[in-house]
Amino acid sequence: MNKSIQHFALIFLFSVGVGNFTSAAPNRTTAAHDPFPTAIPDHIILTWSNDPATTQSVTWRTDTSIVESYGEIARADASPYFIFYTEKKKAQTEPLLTKEYSAHYHSVTFMSLEPNTLYIYRVGSEDNWSEWFQFRTASRESELFTFIYLGDGQNNLLSMWSRAIRGAYSAAPDARFIIHAGDLVANADSYLQWSKWFKAAGWINGIVPSIPIAGNHEYYHGSGKKRYLTDYWRPQFTLPENGIDLLPESNYFIDYQGMRILALNSNENLEEQAKWMETVLKDNPNRWTIATFHHTIYAATVNRDHKKLRETWKPLFDKYHVDLVLAGHDHAYSRGHNIDPNTGISDPQTGTVYVVSVSGPKLYDLTENRWMDRAAENTQLYQVISVDQKTLSYRSYTVTGELYDAFQIVKKRKWPNKFIDKQPKDFPERRFDNTLSIPK
Ligand SMILES: [Fe+2]
Repeated sequence: MNKSIQHFALIFLFSVGVGNFTSAAPNRTTAAHDPFPTAIPDHIILTWSNDPATTQSVTWRTDTSIVESYGEIARADASPYFIFYTEKKKAQTEPLLTKEYSAHYHSVTFMSLEPNTLYIYRVGSEDNWSEWFQFRTASRESELFTFIYLGDGQNNLLSMWSRAIRGAYSAAPDARFIIHAGDLVANADSYLQWSKWFKAAGWINGIVPSIPIAGNHEYYHGSGKKRYLTDYWRPQFTLPENGIDLLPESNYFIDYQGMRILALNSNENLEEQAKWMETVLKDNPNRWTIATFHHTIYAATVNRDHKKLRETWKPLFDKYHVDLVLAGHDHAYSRGHNIDPNTGISDPQTGTVYVVSVSGPKLYDLTENRWMDRAAENTQLYQVISVDQKTLSYRSYTVTGELYDAFQIVKKRKWPNKFIDKQPKDFPERRFDNTLSIPK
């Protein structure tokens, strides 16, 4: 099949054929899946709204019969008698009511925790408690940790994205958090899609904190409708409010063991966020700085150039030596270093590494503009990144568990960092024409 026909066929497949892209109507995949809340907590997810060394937020949902819910926490111990040493905290509860869906969302932020300590918690009330989940608080020291980064999940979340989130966790069960670089779902207001997102991730969300980024599809309410961040976002995720006032809980930063993570909203208010970023980057005691947001500084696929974003934010990444930028949106894989996309010439002023990735099954053609040093089409991937004081080690895997890309960034006394390309030499670039396609 020629490439343009194949591309069209894939878009068609994920638009109308096999899944949940446009319709909330049940199909074979979803028939056994009940997306509605009950009195028993579900959609339980760890996030941070404050310091990861001493606090932990958790959010969950129930049906609207539950008007009071609680979080219970203790230091974890191998003895089951930890249950006699718990503290209980009443949740904040907010309703989410639409024509077709109603739920109560509850959240608790456990405070005054000890750094680098294993805790155990559950959520619920009376006879409707969740199971106990364990998590570890961040250390105060800049010691080695690992995290996961995923590009757009977006489509066929339960049927096909599930292998990405589960593969990532299986590859890095000690990961301290998961970055979702936007477009978690395709239709921002679809309770069915959100419920598949939560079901695919399952208990992983209860033990590994998430750092979710809002993509353009978290702003999609149907064609021609006004754009705004979905009403599902803030009830579902309890996030920092240390960004600009215009974007509560979708523009923020988190400091984790010597790394500042800028979580940005590339959908709107770019200049306001740039001003904010200047203050957050100027006064940054961390050794490492990464930025994550949905749209790309350098496009991986065709017709995707975000000139305004590049012109507004990239000068700050250059000026303040942001080490790594993690994006989504383009539905392909690309990783490049120090390359000016217009001239193709190495830019000695910046050592920032740019990555674009995708975890779901909707996949686009790569751009002909080869700014990237490693790329892939037609491939679902997940990334595992380890960081210590001196070295950031990055690995990207296909969802079939093959190492597809790797590099290290080594901190030097002076900027720029030392970059070591470790991509596998004997693994050809995956393209639509050398990988599985729709049978003729
Ligand atoms: Fe997307």
